Amino acid sequence: MRVDDQKRAGQRVEDWSQDFGPFDGRAWLNTAHQGPLPRVAARALQEAVDDKRAPHRISDEAFVELPMRLRTALATLIGAQPDEIVLGNSASWGLQTIANAFPWEPGDEVAVLATDYPPTIYPWLVIERRGVSVKRIRPAGPVVDLDALVDQMSDRTRILCVSWVNSYTGSRLDLVRLTSACRTLGIRLVINATQGIGAIPFSVADLEVDAISASGFKWLCGPYSTGFAWLRPDLMDTLQPTQAYWLAQPPGGKLDLNRAPEPELRMDLGARAFDVFGTANFFNFVPWLASLDYLNGLGINAAAEHDQLLIDRFLARLDTERFRLVSPRWANDRSAIVAFDDLHQPAERTVADLAAIGVDVALRGGHIRVSPHVHNTVDDIDRLLEGLNAP
Ligand SMILES: Cc1ncc(COP(=O)(O)O)c(C=O)c1O
Repeated sequence: MRVDDQKRAGQRVEDWSQDFGPFDGRAWLNTAHQGPLPRVAARALQEAVDDKRAPHRISDEAFVELPMRLRTALATLIGAQPDEIVLGNSASWGLQTIANAFPWEPGDEVAVLATDYPPTIYPWLVIERRGVSVKRIRPAGPVVDLDALVDQMSDRTRILCVSWVNSYTGSRLDLVRLTSACRTLGIRLVINATQGIGAIPFSVADLEVDAISASGFKWLCGPYSTGFAWLRPDLMDTLQPTQAYWLAQPPGGKLDLNRAPEPELRMDLGARAFDVFGTANFFNFVPWLASLDYLNGLGINAAAEHDQLLIDRFLARLDTERFRLVSPRWANDRSAIVAFDDLHQPAERTVADLAAIGVDVALRGGHIRVSPHVHNTVDDIDRLLEGLNAP
């Protein structure tokens, strides 16, 4: 047992399940696919719907306030400044924005992992048309050897883009080592943090990563089509916006719908120059903000501890004669995703058998994938174990 795992032994698991649901009597253990909306966020959404039914309730200021509050909640979550946050609709949005806006020179290269989840690779494919090559690095095994990865960088590599947590295996890259290697080589490190943010403590103040991007609808419990990016200011300064949005306001800007300003390209927008259009997306961003306030209220450290306690319980009781763990065994190397194989039958069958008894897990990359979060309880894990141990 490693130190972190030992520290958790004997700790009580919090039960926050009353803040979620109803789940129709099922155990939802598939946050890596979709996190559930907390009740408080469902209520906020209902209010947003009520407001839209009676639009006089929606003030002009709300169009500026909502994105501002969302930026602040996201900045709190990752230890950043609100003005460094790009509001998006996906993890892809932030990565695509960087790919489009980076000052590429012909012959430059961006490196990705060939085995990474598609959203971490796709955004770079369009810039191949601009003479930038996308180097797809194939790791030797399911767990990426960082030294071998760094060895593949060349003097043409400008950006390395990888997922922090692998969606298929739950293994987590050591960002401290990776950032330091990239700094030494003068390569920008862009991280898709989707499968880690919300489940593992993370602060941009502690890491020399250049940018992150993440979906909002998994561990951040937002609606589908939410996401954000964070840009380190010195990277942001080099990016050239490829879009202009009429409602984009500089920090502290006020919306005056009475007077049309002289249309001119604003240079004082900072990260806002890269926001998705429609930043006052009330039906998505109002409930997402409520989810983030809820998670920030619990504290990401507490959420992470909760998730790991559930995983500890699961791993301690998993029948290793029948199931082979694909994820790393120790918490320092893994995430809140546990992947494993059934040595007695195909994974599809096990996933279907579990679904039949009301336990929802995923089939990803041919493995059974379990991903508990703050809505789950010890009972959910025991139900899963019971299903797996059934003859
Ligand atoms: C690592 C990772 N990134 C991103 C996504 C989703 O991408 P997007 O928000 O761009 O749709 C997923 C899962 O669907 C994922 O596992």
